[in-house]
Amino acid sequence: MPRDHAYYAKALEGRRLPLAFVDLDLLKDNATALVRRAGGKPIRLATKSVRCVSLIRRVLETVPGFQGLMCYRPDEAVRLRERGLTNLLMGYPVVDPEALAELCRPPSPVTLMVDCAEHVELAARAAQRHGARVPLCLDVDLSLDLPGLWFGVYRSPVRTPEDALKVARAIAASEGVFLAGVMGYEAQLAGVPDASPFAGMKNLAVRALQRGAVRAVHARRAAIVRALADAGVSLSFVNGGGTGSLESTRADASVTELAAGSGLFSPALFDGYRMFRHQPAAAFAIPVTRRPAPGIFTLQGGGFVASGAAGPDKLPRPYLPEGVRLFPLEGVGEVQTPIAYEGPVPLPLGAPVFFRHAKAGELCEHFRTLLLLSEGRVVEEVPTYRGEWG
Ligand SMILES: Cc1ncc(COP(=O)(O)O)c(C=O)c1O
Repeated sequence: MPRDHAYYAKALEGRRLPLAFVDLDLLKDNATALVRRAGGKPIRLATKSVRCVSLIRRVLETVPGFQGLMCYRPDEAVRLRERGLTNLLMGYPVVDPEALAELCRPPSPVTLMVDCAEHVELAARAAQRHGARVPLCLDVDLSLDLPGLWFGVYRSPVRTPEDALKVARAIAASEGVFLAGVMGYEAQLAGVPDASPFAGMKNLAVRALQRGAVRAVHARRAAIVRALADAGVSLSFVNGGGTGSLESTRADASVTELAAGSGLFSPALFDGYRMFRHQPAAAFAIPVTRRPAPGIFTLQGGGFVASGAAGPDKLPRPYLPEGVRLFPLEGVGEVQTPIAYEGPVPLPLGAPVFFRHAKAGELCEHFRTLLLLSEGRVVEEVPTYRGEWG
């Protein structure tokens, strides 16, 4: 069935707006496509890009190829563990001693992310509180220091085998912790679209930079993994990549598992990659509340701007009916969003207009529940993290 305005308007008829929904049939297709793109390597699900326990569970349980979770908030990881989810990796360092103590609680401590001796010390102290043995993962920076351009993100200070060995030695010297894994996330390849409709000619520069970066990124990650192996560290996993880089990351033989999450919802920013196209599986609906002029409709709310460097690419993208346009001087508003629309779909007061968030999981920060649709009707309403945990 074509996913047009009529399809979703009918499926959601009678529901109070605003609302957010996930099309389970498209989500399933996206999950399967991600597994195919991963080329046989397991995918650790990046929970920040979903933020809904029910959907996380659904993907893990129904799509072979997804294995384990990369969490982004310590309280989240603890709650997921309480719900029986296993193989949890914190994707980012935690420094709050109480949160660390919770994460380290036996019998199944969460794997903690570290990139310096201080992180190791904090983790070891928390582990020792429980007499636990806590697995650590070393975050390796894969940014490239090019002339006049830092091509990547600022995360970890660990860039060389020597840097990695230094942290590995700190881990080996600490009671209660051991080095279980390495993560090297090539954000400049996975998270930067190379065919963004907002970037114009800049896309060409991005493509050239990305083409040139792959080899260096793989070499850096592989060299660090090799140095750790030579030093006698036996790693259980090496994680890399994201939705935007599965094809290239999987080709790095040092990588044992990939990370991905955004491709499940495939939000607006992920329309901008040449290598793949997933389907828009998540959207939100806001109602028409007034008609200020012919061809112009004003909608309630809608200002769900995505994080990151601010720009028009971070605004929700009008989705359905096809042909809806935002006004550049107004964007999406805190309480009202005017749109221009001259197409054939009637938009009376109260009618839904559908938007896609620029990013994946952030949609769930604005809604307490998600309506799950399948075969053109709502089959379930499930809480988002915000709805469950605030
Ligand atoms: C460490 C790490 N790995 C992987 C990802 C990729 O996630 P996604 O597939 O949602 O882009 C991210 C996203 O920011 C990340 O921070």
